[in-house]
Amino acid sequence: MSTNNPPNPTRLVVYGAGGHGTVVADAAVLSGHALVGFLDDREQATLAPSEQLLSQNDPRLAGAAFIPAIGDNDARAAVMQKIEQLGGEVVSVVHPTAAISPHATLGHGVYVGPQAVVNAHATVGDGVIINSAAIVEHHCTLGDFAHLAPGAVLGGGATIGDHTLVGLGAKVLPRLQVGARCVVGSGAVVTRSFDHGLLLIGVPAIAQRT
Ligand SMILES: CC(C)(COP(=O)(O)OP(=O)(O)OC[C@H]1O[C@@H](n2cnc3c(N)ncnc32)[C@H](O)[C@@H]1OP(=O)(O)O)[C@@H](O)C(=O)NCCC(=O)NCCS
Repeated sequence: MSTNNPPNPTRLVVYGAGGHGTVVADAAVLSGHALVGFLDDREQATLAPSEQLLSQNDPRLAGAAFIPAIGDNDARAAVMQKIEQLGGEVVSVVHPTAAISPHATLGHGVYVGPQAVVNAHATVGDGVIINSAAIVEHHCTLGDFAHLAPGAVLGGGATIGDHTLVGLGAKVLPRLQVGARCVVGSGAVVTRSFDHGLLLIGVPAIAQRT
């Protein structure tokens, strides 16, 4: 197993100063990054310590790497685009207690939380969140800006579309496909494949249009 973290400390800016951003910052520091601080487009309602909030023209942003750290999938994608337009390097953060197979592939700007597992030959797209104790079994595919909430489990060979949220503790059975821009409700068990843009809730999961 490898953690996919850089051998040398990276000066890292966490883009997103909400709850998710604070979690990503902890994982970043624990995995050897040097935290420069947080950026956030909002002027208020941030949860990071105020002394760690950076302005858009802070000189410490020069040469730093970034991770988009917003839980909402669309907002995270927008921030990633903004970072790339500014020419910033986007990196991933993997908590040191996560277990990542050396045969898994992670995209850019991915966050993998504590006790999460990404097993052999899984493919994880850009900007994906694999949150605390979530499990991605072998040969799964996660589309760009998908989010596996804490405790969610994907059986082997499952495929999750772009921008889909798999909620807290939800499960997707092996080899099934959930389309793009779906929400799998907390605790749901997906027992057959579903198309794009659906809300899936219950056991077994039943589809509703969002
Ligand atoms: C399914 C979900 C999207 C519905 O959200 P919502 O539209 O705001 O729903 P509400 O809270 O208004 O509840 C509407 C109804 O659905 C029920 N419901 C809500 N979530 C449910 C779930 N996960 N499974 C089954 N029923 C659920 C409610 O009990 C309520 O039922 P009622 O009308 O009989 O009273 C949401 O509850 C959910 O599970 N989100 C995932 C959250 C998550 O994991 N986030 C990641 C955090 S890191």
